[in-house]
Amino acid sequence: MHVGELGIFIKKLYRDKGIGEFMIRQALKYARKEGIKIVELSVFANNGRAIHLYKKLGFKKVGLLKGTLKNKGRYFDEIIMVKNIG
Ligand SMILES: CC(C)(COP(=O)(O)OP(=O)(O)OC[C@H]1O[C@@H](n2cnc3c(N)ncnc32)[C@H](O)[C@@H]1OP(=O)(O)O)[C@@H](O)C(=O)NCCC(=O)NCCS
Repeated sequence: MHVGELGIFIKKLYRDKGIGEFMIRQALKYARKEGIKIVELSVFANNGRAIHLYKKLGFKKVGLLKGTLKNKGRYFDEIIMVKNIG
């Protein structure tokens, strides 16, 4: 396997304290060690915080799916991002 999928969720109280950045950096280190070459993720297009963090850590937007995500009855666009770590 050479592609890994990244997912992350931090409890509200602990957000914006650098924990997400730390956890993703750790996950990327572990993935690299395990031989993963490409890390892929999907994010709500209106999730400014997550997108900012992913870009900061070197993820690039490679796709946009229109209206594929649903939350509380509303539809949102989905951004696909990848980072090459090989
Ligand atoms: C997204 C998430 C993983 C980020 O983790 P975190 O610990 O809160 O993030 P960090 O503190 O490491 O970094 C947050 C960064 O976003 C920035 N930020 C915060 N709100 C922002 C906003 N609305 N728009 C843009 N940037 C924002 C902060 O300034 C910080 O950037 P900086 O370090 O360059 O100043 C976490 O907030 C979370 O679990 N959210 C809910 C679930 C979720 O959205 N998961 C991702 C689904 S793809």
